[in-house]
Order: sequence, then C-alpha cells, then structure tokens
Amino acid sequence: MSERVLSVRHVLGIDGLTRADAELILETARSFHEVNTRALKKVPVLRGRTVALLFFENSTRTRLSFELAAKRLSADTLSFSASGSSVQKGETLIDTARNIEAMGPDLVVMRHEQSGSHHLLLRAMSGAVVNAGDGQHEHPTQALLDAFTLLERFGRTPKDGLVGKTIAIVGDIAHSRVARSNMLLLPLLGAKVRVCGPRTMLPLGLEQYGVEATDDVDAALAGVDAVMTLRIQKERISGARMASDRDYFHRFGLTKERFAGLPEHALVMHPGPINRGVEIDHDVADHPRAVILEQAENGVAVRMAVLYLLAVVHAKAERA
Ligand code: CP
Repeated sequence: MSERVLSVRHVLGIDGLTRADAELILETARSFHEVNTRALKKVPVLRGRTVALLFFENSTRTRLSFELAAKRLSADTLSFSASGSSVQKGETLIDTARNIEAMGPDLVVMRHEQSGSHHLLLRAMSGAVVNAGDGQHEHPTQALLDAFTLLERFGRTPKDGLVGKTIAIVGDIAHSRVARSNMLLLPLLGAKVRVCGPRTMLPLGLEQYGVEATDDVDAALAGVDAVMTLRIQKERISGARMASDRDYFHRFGLTKERFAGLPEHALVMHPGPINRGVEIDHDVADHPRAVILEQAENGVAVRMAVLYLLAVVHAKAERA
C-alpha cells in the first residue's frame, strides 16, 4: 500500500480534493479491487475501528457498498436509517449525531437530503466524515467509482484511461449531485465532459466547470467514449418541468437508435437507480457495453479506499 496520504481529513466533495488525492484514492481502490477477487475478501486494516453509516435519505448501492467496504476492512459498523429512528419523533440531525458520537465511531458516512449538511455534522463528530450524497450538491464516491470504472475499461492510469476521452452526461444536470461531482472530477483527471439535458435542467454557471453544455442530445453523443445517463430527480423538482416520461425518453433518452449511433467502443454508464424506458432503453441498459453493474461492483473497492485512507490520515494526526 502507498506511503502517500490524503491532503484532507474528510471527504465532503470532489471540491476540496486535489488531483493527487483523487489519483491516490483510485490507485488504492485498485489494490482493494484485487482483494475483492480473492476467496477470502477481507483485510484487517480497520480492525478495532467503527464506521457509522447514517442514511437520512434512501439508498441501495451507496449504503450497501459502504457497509460491505467497512466489513471487508474488518471494521465494526453502526447502521442508522432515518426511517425507523428517533428522527421520526422530532430529533434533530445534530442531536442524533451527538448521540452516535457518544458511541465512539472512528469514521462517519452520511447521506442527507440537505446540501451542505455535512458541515453541521462536523460540529458533532471527532472522526472522519464521508459524504455519501447531500441534496443536489455532491456525491464524491459515486464520481470516484465512475472514474475507476472508466479506468478499468480504458487504461489503468488517468493518463492512459481518461486524458483526451470525452464523456457525455445526459439528464437532469441541475438537480444531480452525481453530475456535479463528475463535472469536477473528470476534467481534473484530464477528460472532456459534455453535459446535456432539457434547458430547464441545465443550471446556470456551467462554464465554471469547464464543460460543454447543450440541449441537443445527438450533438452531445457524437464521438463520445462514454455516456452517463441520469434519471430525472423528481424528488427535487417542484412543478412540471417535463411533459411526460414518454416525451423525455423520445427527446433525451438513450434509445436503441441513439445507442446504435455511438462509436463502437463507447460505454454506457448510469449511477442507478435506473428508470428503464425513461432515461435509458430497456435493452441498452443490459447491453454488454453497459457497465452499470461494474459501477456498482467497483463502488465497494473505491469506498474501501476512501475509508482506509481517511483512517490513515486520522491515525497520523493522533500520533502527532
Ligand atoms: N448511485 C446511488 O447513489 O445509488 P443509491 O441511491 O441506491 O445509493
């Protein structure tokens, strides 16, 4: 394992990570990916440590892969869901966090519907904090696992696998934390990013990310190396922004026809959950060039890397 350490004590977003941090996480994930292919998929590096998983918002992939990541590193886990907890009885985030802090977790992973809520969490927690998705702000480990998946397919280092590659992100860009984290990470690692969606779902200020933006999906998909389709974040949209799912599929969905027009090597990605027949055709989602399940698999190794590297930073700080 590398002697290098992260420059940060918490992973709250891609914003805040250096290129060296991102590369270190991706390289470390490569080692853990190898661990995950062994018969005994476990290493003792976090034995005696506790990882708290606080999910105030629904999740399948992120929650399960953080839990598996912690267990494969031999950590104990504390698992919290807002549904079925005392949040339903009126307890605030900060009071919930203080009570969990009293149980002594070393690392805290949180998903919350409020953008920026992790800064509030930091007031109650002494351990490392990882953002597992905050509102429409960031989902850093999703972007890291997306980059890892591209590297696995195109070349193991960013220089070989990402520099000069063009990735289209198509969907509800305005409300997507996955889009935001990828717009920060992929250009940091040398890829070109095009974002595409209905005009009402393209936020202002996209130029600050250095990405191209268009509402013409066929132009967005021309010559790409990968297309990342995103669902419409209906839970974050008030009022009708689209006529119907059917209309959206026709105008922006990755249909069989649009897929057939992609370069032969182009990959199809989706962070999940997918809505077949809305943002992606049913059969395209299951095509061999769709790496959606590889993304889910790679999430475990990437999250192992993030937890391990943060534990190293905190152990060094304790010794200093
Ligand atoms: N990609 C993602 O965050 O999926 P979940 O909402 O199921 O965690």
